[in-house]
Amino acid sequence: MDVIIRDDYQAMSLYAAKCIANVIKNKPDAVLGLATGSTPLGTYNELIRMHREEGLDFSLVTTFNLDEYLGIGIDMTKPYLQDQSYARFMFESLFKHVNIDLNRTHVPDGLAKDPTAFCEQYEAAIKDAGGIDIQLLGIGGDGHWAFNEPGASLFSRTHVEVLTKQTLDDNYELFYEKAGFSRDEMPHFALTMGVGTILDARSLLMLASGSKKASVVAKALEGPVTSQITSSAIQLYTGHAIVVLDEEASSELKCKDHYSHVEKVKTQLL
Ligand code: GLP
Repeated sequence: MDVIIRDDYQAMSLYAAKCIANVIKNKPDAVLGLATGSTPLGTYNELIRMHREEGLDFSLVTTFNLDEYLGIGIDMTKPYLQDQSYARFMFESLFKHVNIDLNRTHVPDGLAKDPTAFCEQYEAAIKDAGGIDIQLLGIGGDGHWAFNEPGASLFSRTHVEVLTKQTLDDNYELFYEKAGFSRDEMPHFALTMGVGTILDARSLLMLASGSKKASVVAKALEGPVTSQITSSAIQLYTGHAIVVLDEEASSELKCKDHYSHVEKVKTQLL
């Protein structure tokens, strides 16, 4: 695991976008695992800039998103709910700004009639696409990856998850409150890739920013591996994991100096 620390959110986002762009340049038909939340927005903005100004080509790229609230999705009959879906978030934040083929983009279907059957199909679709080349990840306030809440198996596959009170509070502030919803109107369930699904990706790119994330980042990277902090599964990952943090998010790491030293040594070697 490489832990890269940058001064601020902008520098963190630039680093992350370069990692993703490199994957696309080396493999134009790459399969990207994408994430929602406020953290990846800067990365998406930089990818959009690279597409516009440097011709970064998404035409052959396939994407799979980590998760979606259950009960909402792209449904033109419920436009107000649709606005809060992760599918809509991805469309607005990235897809509509680049030359991606929307048929190659996948977000779990929050409106699936049989969510369990849908989860199996989602796993099969990832396999059929050849697996995920790089999985972008944030970290929830309770340490979750995607919507794998405390107690989710570290071997789990795509499944339905019950959201914690903390996640509902965090995400209410971010998305629902602004749109004028009451807290009770928020979906309490989600479809999410499992931790095992995430660990199958060929590389991981995890981002965290801000002092609010410092404690949970330290627990995930340096604490015990536990299903109470599902992102701690990164310690079990055998592929190439890159964790990109800003100064604030890295402030409680015990081995911070070592991580910076490793980055310097590796740069000299290349
Ligand atoms: C949601 C998403 C996660 C994301 C988390 C953090 O819970 N399901 O994938 O990592 O939010 O969001 P933010 O980046 O806004 O802190």
